[in-house]
Amino acid sequence: MHRIVLLGPPGVGKGTQASRLARELAIPHLSTGDLLRAAVAARTPLGREAEAHMAAGRLVPDPIVLKILEERLAAPDCRGGYILDGFPRNVPQAIALESIAPLDAVLSLDLPEATLIGRLSGRRVCPTCQAVYHLATLPPKVPGRCDKDGAELVQRPDDRPEAIATRLQVYHEQTTPLLDHYRQRGLVRPVDARGAPEEVYRRLRAGVGSG
Ligand code: AP5
Repeated sequence: MHRIVLLGPPGVGKGTQASRLARELAIPHLSTGDLLRAAVAARTPLGREAEAHMAAGRLVPDPIVLKILEERLAAPDCRGGYILDGFPRNVPQAIALESIAPLDAVLSLDLPEATLIGRLSGRRVCPTCQAVYHLATLPPKVPGRCDKDGAELVQRPDDRPEAIATRLQVYHEQTTPLLDHYRQRGLVRPVDARGAPEEVYRRLRAGVGSG
């Protein structure tokens, strides 16, 4: 069974790698960022509470994230394993997760900060189908339009320079302590996230093993 966390700074490629790994292993890709963005778009009470925190690049309060994730993990498709992307983000979330769902491995992706900023500032997303592009490394066939449905691509509000700076600071202060937490439990498998997506995937896949 594969019960995996992808850990790493904003823009390291967690979403890109998690969606491919989820397809190959036929298990769900649970991104708390995607779940929260869906709640914001649907104007649910939790989404309305999360919106300003997200746009500013701050973490959403733990009770909101835990409620959304716990509901998703209870779905039948998670019984055969899951890939968590963007959760946990701090030690209290990791402790809460221990009482909800077991883990087999924590894949820790890392990149130099200048590369992270380049990946985040060039990202464009489709507001309709959530496909992810990059102006330089993964451009759409028609500039500014989604390859899948032709919708006009947008920049995430938290990919503006001031929000990127806050996200990186929050990552260093609140999320990096998780590495020690998981090292003490023998779960961490480091993955060098430099290079093309295909190259990173090969390293990640080797770190995941056969399960
Ligand atoms: P979330 O959506 O989780 O954002 P994040 O962790 O900051 O990560 P990103 O989605 O920005 O980057 P990624 O690592 O997935 O990179 P991607 O593959 O897209 O969270 C957003 C917000 O929600 C948080 O700030 C917070 O407010 C809230 N939130 C979420 N979870 C929370 C939690 N647990 N607790 C509290 N709050 C929470 O790649 C980035 C770009 O690079 C793309 O354009 C891609 O095409 C490109 N790219 C990817 N790989 C490569 C490569 N190898 N080479 C070249 N380009 C590449």
